[in-house]
Amino acid sequence: MTSSTPPNTAPLTQDQLKTLVGQAALQYVVPGEIVGVGTGSTVNKFIDALATMKDQIKGAVSSSVASTERLQALGIQVFDSNDVPRLSVYIDGADEIDHHGNMVKGGGAALTREKIVAAQSDRFVCIADESKLVKTLGAFPLPVEVIPMATQRVIAQFAAKGGKASIRLKDGQPLVTDNGQYIVDVTGLQIADPLAFEAEVSQWPGVVTVGVFAFQRAQVCLLGTASGVKTLTF
Ligand code: 5RP
Repeated sequence: MTSSTPPNTAPLTQDQLKTLVGQAALQYVVPGEIVGVGTGSTVNKFIDALATMKDQIKGAVSSSVASTERLQALGIQVFDSNDVPRLSVYIDGADEIDHHGNMVKGGGAALTREKIVAAQSDRFVCIADESKLVKTLGAFPLPVEVIPMATQRVIAQFAAKGGKASIRLKDGQPLVTDNGQYIVDVTGLQIADPLAFEAEVSQWPGVVTVGVFAFQRAQVCLLGTASGVKTLTF
């Protein structure tokens, strides 16, 4: 009688899926260039993977203090975005991504700098696990960075659109972003036309950045799935 070990059929954890897509994103990094780097737990996996090829790149432009510190701790030089006219690629996560590459971002409160670095990049490669893929944006509370004195007005404007907005807190106090502003998170929205929504909300007085990325949508999404990394192109 022979005994055999049953195949390991345990599904990959969300953390393992993030590691997979973080590593897969290396193929989009252009040797000899500066790479745009986002923020969040998935991007942290990418930064760790990027360290294995740090001698092949010039460095990075970062979208947050947290990512800058992680990059520098791994010996990757971080450039000011003002000193880098153009990036070939920006790699970042998302809170939601639809089938056209439109995203909701800002769960890590870094949406403003993320949009800035995305805007200076030729290509946005989104890295995400499959739980982030949605038909319509809006299930994840929409982050909006606002100037503190405009907070109540912005909350009222979202209420008029059927959304319920609240100030994001940290240790019982309003969370303050890397840019010194507040975040409001909005629930109850169905964002059927992301481009029109982003254009409208971006014009409200006091809104610094709305977390809908339609103008700066992804061209590629590396999606971590049970059967491996799936590449979606838009
Ligand atoms: C930070 C972001 C992140 O990309 C988004 O929140 C996804 O984060 P994670 O990879 O931790 O799920 O927009 O502002």
